[in-house]
Amino acid sequence: MKVFLPILLASKMPAGAFLLCVVSVLGCGDSGDGSATSGSKDGAVAPRNEFGVTDPVVLRRALASSPLPAPPADSTNRYADDPEAAELGRMIFFDPRLSGNGEVSCATCHQPDRWFADGLTKSKGIGIADRHSPTLVDAAHHRWFNWDGRSDSMWGHTIRPIENPLEMGGDRTMVARLLLEDPDLNGRYEAIFGAIPLVAADLPRRARPIGDLPSVEAWERLAPLEQDRINRVVANVGKSLAAFQRTLRGGSTRFDRWAESVSIGGDGGSMLDASEIRGLALFFGEAECWECHSGPLFSDGEFHNIGIPVAEGLPRDPGRYDGSLLVKEDLFNAAGRYSDDAEGRQAILSRGVKRDPEAWGAFRTPTLRGVGQTAPYMHDGSMPDLESVLRFYSTLEGAVQLDHHQESVLSALDLDPGQIQDLEAFLRTLSGPGPEIESMEPPHAGGRHRSE
Ligand code: HEC
Ligand code: HEC
Repeated sequence: MKVFLPILLASKMPAGAFLLCVVSVLGCGDSGDGSATSGSKDGAVAPRNEFGVTDPVVLRRALASSPLPAPPADSTNRYADDPEAAELGRMIFFDPRLSGNGEVSCATCHQPDRWFADGLTKSKGIGIADRHSPTLVDAAHHRWFNWDGRSDSMWGHTIRPIENPLEMGGDRTMVARLLLEDPDLNGRYEAIFGAIPLVAADLPRRARPIGDLPSVEAWERLAPLEQDRINRVVANVGKSLAAFQRTLRGGSTRFDRWAESVSIGGDGGSMLDASEIRGLALFFGEAECWECHSGPLFSDGEFHNIGIPVAEGLPRDPGRYDGSLLVKEDLFNAAGRYSDDAEGRQAILSRGVKRDPEAWGAFRTPTLRGVGQTAPYMHDGSMPDLESVLRFYSTLEGAVQLDHHQESVLSALDLDPGQIQDLEAFLRTLSGPGPEIESMEPPHAGGRHRSE
């Protein structure tokens, strides 16, 4: 038998103060012996139950982290929610012809059966990428893209992997040529974006503004109008790819179902077990994970230096310090000529980004939705599993000392093995069913993108 104690919701409370009136949410399991007492942080003694979260602050934070709505509108991409564009984007996502060697597609490093990550420490395309591949599931919720936030939209990011010699080693002229020459892709593209005012035969084989000398020289020989038309195709391909990626949703998690039950007065008891609930209470309480992994995405969208140890012999990655410069200089940013809202909110934010020494070594707080599916962890993939991550937060062993510009944000949590287990158990409740991947991949897609 379950006993439900309804949450008292005051109807006219200011946002943010809602649920402060919650006294307790107790679910009494059949075994019925979970009602020990434990001291809360400020010394007050709160009743504790195996399935109950009794601290109103913890409860309020937890309920504010669910559910994850649809991704926010992207006014810089007029095609963000256009199904035809998403379909074109899906086809391009799996197409290895965008790469220099014809073998690497987006799906090589963002594999459908690996939660759109790749399971590797550092991604492998033509070479080994500088960082670990983040998941694309629910990624459309971010404001800044990549670990260092060097792109301010999903579409604007597209040219980076394509032209990165370690990733796809292709170039923008190749993208334009493919969209002109492949009849199916061309038909779909022109139906959405209009005719491409370029002739494939007139385009140099390889040309790009930055990279190897012959390609750069070929690019510089093109008339500015042609360069602009090629860039336009790349931006539109990016907008299609973004429309596809916006459809990659993690879906409702066990944590969401718990939150839903609790918020309508249930106890959520059957959704999460005792260890998961203890992990939840740590996450939103004492362990203060919630400080940065906040809101329904479990990310504040900001950049922090948590000082993860650097592998010997490798230079430290400057992270946001460089990312803040790159996003401002980006031809494909929200404020640029290929944006559909160059005076909008994101454009204003991007123009206002400052390069701050405090951002040295800072990385965007990753989402924790789906985190059970996306090992290894961190921007450099250096932590093989969740236990290693939690052990790091517990001891801060090997943590890189911050320099004098920076404020220390973390202190060692000194978790006991049981607490580490509980936190891990909670983190594993944050995965939903994931995107529907059957029938997603076009039958003719080639390239390396299956997990063997
Ligand atoms: C060789 C592996 C590789 C390939 C191929 C690749 N990516 Fe990535 N992707 C990465 C890595 C690594 C990062 C993180 C880069 C960083 O932060 O510096 C990333 C980041 C991203 C992000 C940012 C996600 C976020 O949470 O901010 C998006 C979006 C993305 N890739 C989409 C694509 C698309 C679309 C393609 C194909 C055009 C593609 N990727 C091809 C490895 C790859
Ligand atoms: C000060 C902000 C902050 C706090 C507090 C914080 N995190 Fe993080 N977390 C980050 C950042 C930033 C990263 C990425 C760091 C990097 O790659 O260098 C990260 C990475 C992670 C990852 C790896 C995710 C991935 O996809 O690679 C996990 C798991 C994680 N944190 C869980 C937690 C837990 C659990 C707590 C509480 C014990 C916590 N975090 C507290 C900011 C924070």
